[in-house]
Amino acid sequence: MAEPIDYFTEEQSEAAVNGRMGAAVEPRLAEVMGSLVRHLHAFAKDVGLTQAEWAAAVAFLTATGQKCDGNRQEFILLSDVLGLSMLVDAINHRRPSGATENTVLGPFHVAGAPHYPMGSMISLDGKGESCLFSGRVVDTEGQPVANAVIDVWCDNADGYYDVQQPGVQPQWNNRGIFVTGPDGAYSFRGIRPVAYPIPDDGPVGQMLAALGRHPNRPAHMHFLVSAPGYETIVTHTFVAGDQWLASDAVFGVKASLIASMEPGTDTAWRSQFDFVMTPAGD
Ligand code: BEZ
Ligand code: FE
Repeated sequence: MAEPIDYFTEEQSEAAVNGRMGAAVEPRLAEVMGSLVRHLHAFAKDVGLTQAEWAAAVAFLTATGQKCDGNRQEFILLSDVLGLSMLVDAINHRRPSGATENTVLGPFHVAGAPHYPMGSMISLDGKGESCLFSGRVVDTEGQPVANAVIDVWCDNADGYYDVQQPGVQPQWNNRGIFVTGPDGAYSFRGIRPVAYPIPDDGPVGQMLAALGRHPNRPAHMHFLVSAPGYETIVTHTFVAGDQWLASDAVFGVKASLIASMEPGTDTAWRSQFDFVMTPAGD
């Protein structure tokens, strides 16, 4: 007598799928895919997914892929607005209290920005309210970190990054790289960043609108801080008092990343923030 076959049924659907996995599958792949199938099936059962809804989801994901090109990554944007990017970042960057927290990198970082001496101006289009950004890079003992590479970028006063407006903004507008000396201090001039909407002319924007969500991000300056022997910090400082701090479209705000924004003397504004690095591999 042949063994009875466990055909696919609604009741044991995930077991039917995961049971097909080969015995020699790489263990981490088996763990991740097994869990994904269990959660996907549980989700479909939980909401009683209709065939029309399933087809709409396939059409949405297809449109998301079709929106992607060399400059636009609609899938990462989808992950961002669903909070998944911030969750994966949190899981992978648990740091001791007092260390600078990470947040999303975002799609607008460009490698290879110009290196400038401390104090230089990074805004090249003459727009916006000037702001002096300054502080120190230190370790968890408060000791200065020398040779820290500080890569910064932000939008212009109209709310767009240079890469969103080629031919309109100068290349490398509001971007620059600074390297700390023995005192760990940094300073550069730029503009007071302004709030802006994430790109919302695609499927992700349609989804946000359908969910009654706005696409805005509170004003921020991006920082990528790296130094030999330390864990790289990917973060932003947020402008205190911004109206979107509590409802950032991509959930990037953390209380510890809200920086002061005070009237300045030789610049309109002054923003001060210290970066606290943890040893690599901690
Ligand atoms: C940004 O801050 O540049 C950004 C982050 C996530 C999605 C879109 C933009
Ligand atoms: Fe940004």
